[in-house]
Amino acid sequence: MSLNDLSFPHRHLLGIEGLSPQEIGLILDLSDSYVQTNRQREKKLATLRGRTLINLFFETSTRTRISFELAGKRLGADVINISVASSSIKKGETLIDTAMTLNAMQPDVLAIRHGDSGAVKLLSEKVDCAVVNAGDGSHEHPTQALLDALTIRRRKGRLQGLTVAICGDVRHSRVARSNIYLLNAVGARVRVVAPPTLLPSAIERLGVEVFHDMRRGLDGCDIVMMLRLQRERMQGTFVPSVREYFHFWGLDYAKLAYAKPDALIMHPGPMNRGVEIDSVLADDIDRSVIREQVEMGVAVRMACLDLLTRAPGEARNRPASAEAGRLRSGEGR
Ligand code: NCD
Repeated sequence: MSLNDLSFPHRHLLGIEGLSPQEIGLILDLSDSYVQTNRQREKKLATLRGRTLINLFFETSTRTRISFELAGKRLGADVINISVASSSIKKGETLIDTAMTLNAMQPDVLAIRHGDSGAVKLLSEKVDCAVVNAGDGSHEHPTQALLDALTIRRRKGRLQGLTVAICGDVRHSRVARSNIYLLNAVGARVRVVAPPTLLPSAIERLGVEVFHDMRRGLDGCDIVMMLRLQRERMQGTFVPSVREYFHFWGLDYAKLAYAKPDALIMHPGPMNRGVEIDSVLADDIDRSVIREQVEMGVAVRMACLDLLTRAPGEARNRPASAEAGRLRSGEGR
């Protein structure tokens, strides 16, 4: 059976929790072929022609929102972007009423970001279309973990057996949580490295090793994943000062020296240079794959949109062949 004959057994993508290693592998394999599509001069396919994607973002976003938009457009869908600032939510409409209004317009996929954990799942229960969680509070951000996994797998050739250190503000991070689920599912070893104030309680139960010291936490690891200090989610003071935070927890060349010599540096963005990561190191193309993560994000979202809109058993055009997609849609250059 080829990749294009496979269907995805879930109606929504709300989190990594609950996905099997095979399903994760399927998404990553399909994403790989979309990386090829995105590197071609002609990038537009007809896979989602006639379908509608609505991006509903209740929180700010640069890369995730644009990445979903590009992914939808490259697959030939009509894409609508709604940000809270310009929607009726500002006029007092409830979350569910907004979702019901959009649902009445018959979209095929809703990509939703919301500041509250669980809000995206709630909306998914009220609408008829597929829902992708583009980040809910500090709960999950599944497409980020998938794009991180794709970046690692392409660079290292595998995920299984690698040691990944997730460092910094784990407590407020949906990226950390989704990555922990995914990396554990595929057999990587996960460490979290943070001061106790920036770790959620009972984090060990998620199957991670906990370190309260950067040097020991990075010792011998293959991947160093840095997280932003999410001050907008903090009530009260979690760190003494930014200067002190960088001194103890910021990634610089001295701390990186404890990781494997070929360890890669990742960051989901947006980065706070000089807070969680040294600015020169963030741009070091020999170590940092931060920009590659952004590229992989578009491919992963294309794969997710493709899989979620497939009818069971529906075969799809080979994604690597933009030519075939164009011919099928009758589009010329
Ligand atoms: C992350 C997010 O929004 O959760 N960013 C992203 O999606 N690329 C991480 C963050 O905001 O720090």
